Amino acid sequence: MIKLSPIIAHRGSSGTAPENTLAAFRAAAAAGATWVEFDATLTSDARPVVFHDDELDRTTDGQGLLAETTFEVLTHLDAGSWFGAAFAGEMVPTLEEVLETLGTLGLAFNMEIKPDRGREVETAEIALATVADNWHGSLPTPLISSFSRICVGVAKDLAPTLPRSFLFDRRPDDWAALGRTLELFGFGANQAHLDAAQVAEMKAAGYRVSAYTVNAPERASLLFSWGVDSIFTDYPALMLKHFPPT
Ligand code: G3P
Ligand code: MG
Repeated sequence: MIKLSPIIAHRGSSGTAPENTLAAFRAAAAAGATWVEFDATLTSDARPVVFHDDELDRTTDGQGLLAETTFEVLTHLDAGSWFGAAFAGEMVPTLEEVLETLGTLGLAFNMEIKPDRGREVETAEIALATVADNWHGSLPTPLISSFSRICVGVAKDLAPTLPRSFLFDRRPDDWAALGRTLELFGFGANQAHLDAAQVAEMKAAGYRVSAYTVNAPERASLLFSWGVDSIFTDYPALMLKHFPPT
């Protein structure tokens, strides 16, 4: 079973570098992180890339929907300048590029499969096949997660040996049944809606509990005191200073 770090760099060190770019993963490694999270999704022509939003506008100099953008068009976009001039020229990385970089950096990873609506099966199949082909064997076993039950189900079928986590904003009523059906390793909860009783229930049922996104050390302390195993943070250097590896 994998040993997930208590501190997971969310979209890389996304508080200090443009999220989900190679620069953000390098910054996470420089901060001393051992685990990173990223979002895997597809271009219109089904190339797996690492990107969070539905739209290009916030984190690139492009516009419109990623799901309606070809990979070729994406290669002309700048995904760094919005964050700071020092990051001009950063690109939306392919999933292959991210996996290669993480291998070089020695970073373990949690791949969140983030499908466009209606492309859940396709996105999960392609992302998982890409991991199978590009995962550096020297790295710890990756954690696969998604807000999509369909994606987690595809992961169970196609990559049964990889641990799976189901993400939620508010915990669904059928969480326990879901955990059994999908044979989950854990749950990833929105920290804003999580409470101590929920954590205790999920832990008692044998699941790892992670919480996103936690950028205040005091909040992280409280969550850890409830039994939360890991937090996703945009500031891994700050969190590792407060919660050094034991
Ligand atoms: O995987 C945890 C977290 O990344 C889920 O939310 O929107 O940041 O992908 P989001
Ligand atoms: Mg994510």
